Amino acid sequence: MRKPFLAGNWKMNKTAAEAQGLVKELLALLADTQDRDVAICPAFPCLAAVAQLIQGSKLRLGAQNMYFEDSGAYTGEVSADMLLAVGAEYVILGHSERRAYFGENNEIVNKKLKKALAKGLGPIVCVGEVLEEREAGKAEFVVEDHVRGAFAGISEAEAARVTIAYEPVWAIGTGKTATPNDADSMHAHIRKVLSALYSPALAENLRIQYGGSVNDKNIDELMRMPNIDGALVGGASLKAESFARIVKFIP
Ligand code: PGA
Repeated sequence: MRKPFLAGNWKMNKTAAEAQGLVKELLALLADTQDRDVAICPAFPCLAAVAQLIQGSKLRLGAQNMYFEDSGAYTGEVSADMLLAVGAEYVILGHSERRAYFGENNEIVNKKLKKALAKGLGPIVCVGEVLEEREAGKAEFVVEDHVRGAFAGISEAEAARVTIAYEPVWAIGTGKTATPNDADSMHAHIRKVLSALYSPALAENLRIQYGGSVNDKNIDELMRMPNIDGALVGGASLKAESFARIVKFIP
């Protein structure tokens, strides 16, 4: 059985003080959470402050990005060791905003994934097509290319520690969600690709989150789909009530 995994991607929002306020509200609302993994992914300057507050709670900490080198002259970048030292357990890799605005491609995502796994972080690898690709009937092809590119040269034992987030780019921050059926069928396609790359067992056990305008109104329906194991939530993770309701989805 795949345990549901809900993660909040705060993107470039919240100062450290604002992040602390949100976390305090979340801790109160989520104190009784069971049978669900929950992570929040604040911006780098907030990680330390948030880590302190969530110690001993069920909330886990993730970062939104990292660089694939260990250390050195890479101005502006952050290493896996730095994330671990501050208490992060997860890291989002290959988010579509990184691909679109910061030139990340499959090769870079693959290098980052290898480094994150080698260091013991729990990677959340984002894949997903843009609108033109969907309209041209290429969505499955693009997502397969993202999965194959990210996982190139990664062993089955390591791959088993990855979470995939399927985020159709046209659904991110737009209020348009993929229908639960469309999302589920892409998740099933991702499992088929993983089965071919690794094994049916890995494909069955790996968690696949859906992301793209997930909110407290559509989460229940999404989570009822057989291949959807959780959500990567942007906008709706910035308010404690809506994120808490998402975490407490009703199956
Ligand atoms: P959204 O973002 O929920 O605001 O659409 C999701 C994401 O980009 O991870």
